[in-house]
Amino acid sequence: MSPARRVPVDSRVYTPAPGEESDVEPMPAGDVTDGVVRVGGTVRRPHQPQSLAVAEYLDWLEDAGFEGSPRFLGRDPRGRDVLTFVPGQCAGSPPEAWAQSGDLLASVARLVRRLHTASAGFVPRAHPFPPRPFPRSPVRPNPTDAAGLICHLDITPQNVVVRDGRATGVVDFDLAGPATAFHDSLNTAMHWVPLRDPADAWPGWEDQDPFRRLRIFADAYGWTEEERRRVPGAGIDAAALSYERMRHNAATLGGGWARMWDDGVGGLIRRRQDWLAANAGPLVTALTT
Ligand SMILES: Nc1ncnc2c1ncn2[C@@H]1O[C@H](COP(=O)(O)OP(=O)(O)OP(=O)(O)O)[C@@H](O)[C@H]1O
Ligand SMILES: [Mg+2]
Repeated sequence: MSPARRVPVDSRVYTPAPGEESDVEPMPAGDVTDGVVRVGGTVRRPHQPQSLAVAEYLDWLEDAGFEGSPRFLGRDPRGRDVLTFVPGQCAGSPPEAWAQSGDLLASVARLVRRLHTASAGFVPRAHPFPPRPFPRSPVRPNPTDAAGLICHLDITPQNVVVRDGRATGVVDFDLAGPATAFHDSLNTAMHWVPLRDPADAWPGWEDQDPFRRLRIFADAYGWTEEERRRVPGAGIDAAALSYERMRHNAATLGGGWARMWDDGVGGLIRRRQDWLAANAGPLVTALTT
């Protein structure tokens, strides 16, 4: 839709089609947001503090020609956010064997690159993203990073839509906010390679080679030589932040955050951090030679 014809996100109302409300199917449960359902050709999600900032971002992506994100259609009579359903399949938790395909991994990297290109220039105005909870990012700013890019920041296998073996869409923009393309792409690689202690491999993923997979991702996304050399250090910094943030959220927000913490996500993150530190040299070698 042309930007001029759009209703502002805070007054956009979705009127269901006749009969639509009876075609309801629960969506696979994530870790935090309860109550996500498909209704007809739409997805309904609880309205959240970041919803309007996300809605503006989704409008921007549509105008920028990015095809892979849902459209924000407004709020339904129950106040829920209404988004278009992105057709395809998302991986489960833990991800199935089909999600191991190297071609799929490369297509994820290319999708993220297209998302970043489309995001360039978006500056939230009417509805800024709520600040991320304490602790603030200790990630060291790098002078070569393009600062101030709004990013997705949660491109997990469960949040990527796959069609015919290729990543075609991305959903669940709940964690979107200002970051850098390098940070978001490294975060995606962390989820998709995945970068974790081999002791924490998902069932059926034990034989996957993280060095080979990281190289596939790096080449498909197009990390520069300098970015490749920064991967271990930036990954260690990101793990340290993630540990503090998860602990903080579990203590202050409870719910799914507390469930994940009780299930041992803190230990998993610490082991990732140690694995990255122990394998810093081989990781850079795999990425640069
Ligand atoms: N717009 C959409 N199009 C297609 N599928 C979707 C869409 N939104 C969500 N889904 C499906 O529903 C699942 C859960 O939705 P979503 O990721 O938005 O919430 P969540 O993971 O429960 O939230 P959180 O990550 O905050 O815990 C997704 O993994 C995906 O399979
Ligand atoms: Mg999700």
